[in-house]
Amino acid sequence: AGVGQSVSTGAVPPGDRIDEVLARAFERASAHREGKVADYIPILQNADPEAFGLCIADVDGGLHELGDTRAPFSIQSISKAFVYALLCDRIGHGRALDVVGVNNTGLPFNSVVAIELNDGHPMNPMVNAGAIAATALMPGETADAQFAAILTGLSRFAGRELTVDEDVYRCEADTNQRNRAIAQLLASYGRITGDPLRAVDVYTRQCSVRVDARDLAVMGATLADGGVNPLTGERVVSAEVSRDTLAALAASGLYERSGEWLFEIGLPGKSGVSGGLVTVAPGKVGVGAYAPPLDSAGNSVRGQIATANVSRALGLNIF
Ligand code: DON
Repeated sequence: AGVGQSVSTGAVPPGDRIDEVLARAFERASAHREGKVADYIPILQNADPEAFGLCIADVDGGLHELGDTRAPFSIQSISKAFVYALLCDRIGHGRALDVVGVNNTGLPFNSVVAIELNDGHPMNPMVNAGAIAATALMPGETADAQFAAILTGLSRFAGRELTVDEDVYRCEADTNQRNRAIAQLLASYGRITGDPLRAVDVYTRQCSVRVDARDLAVMGATLADGGVNPLTGERVVSAEVSRDTLAALAASGLYERSGEWLFEIGLPGKSGVSGGLVTVAPGKVGVGAYAPPLDSAGNSVRGQIATANVSRALGLNIF
């Protein structure tokens, strides 16, 4: 329950209404101090637990920002959504469904058991197994070439040139034994056919790409806009790919909490362990949030509360 409920209409909300809703959502979420900053990737512990940024980008190119919207952080799992879109653009709907799947595992994002329970199938692109399998399929003869294609694609979604946080990359590369195990397991089932450790390396680099809450909002607005970046006017992926990506996000974007998220917020979203959260209201807006303390599933506490308030007050729930 938040700032009053509205019912979804077809129109992009007016800018002054967005500003008003943004301010109230920010204030309400700021009162929450629960959650814990991620520490399984040691460098992420250094994040400021008080940092909080909220940005709404509309499909007409309007930007509405409050708080630490320019504070940089590593994109982490949110990259999964956009790399999946890039992959779908390349391999098409049917093959993406076949190879990566779109069903929720009901288990944590780095689950090994989920792979075993499903005969080696990664299940969906938003868990680590499915994301590593997706990255393995990206074009490129070498890890560098594959990563270059990913970085270019993510930058087009954001509408600016993104870079890698090398410290985050090195830290995660030194501590990602579990992801290496997941990739080796997928390879043992024939679900990754190239070098599984190369796939993990490219995946680790993609997770280390530096963004801010404003970038997330613009990236989300690009999916909301059917694949066209509303700031640059560039088509990044097709409308069909945007639709498919949003369906995958609705099913699994908040991991084992995806059902609750959809029930409360009614929009596709994607979280990351550094505290980022992107949410997409198709045809209307992208919402980008950054607040490092996470709930037990790895989703930003303030990000979820703020987004729930925005969704309700602007009547964004698609159901
Ligand atoms: O592979 C990992 O564990 C991290 N690079 C990303 C995980 C993540 O962001 C999950 N999010 N909630």
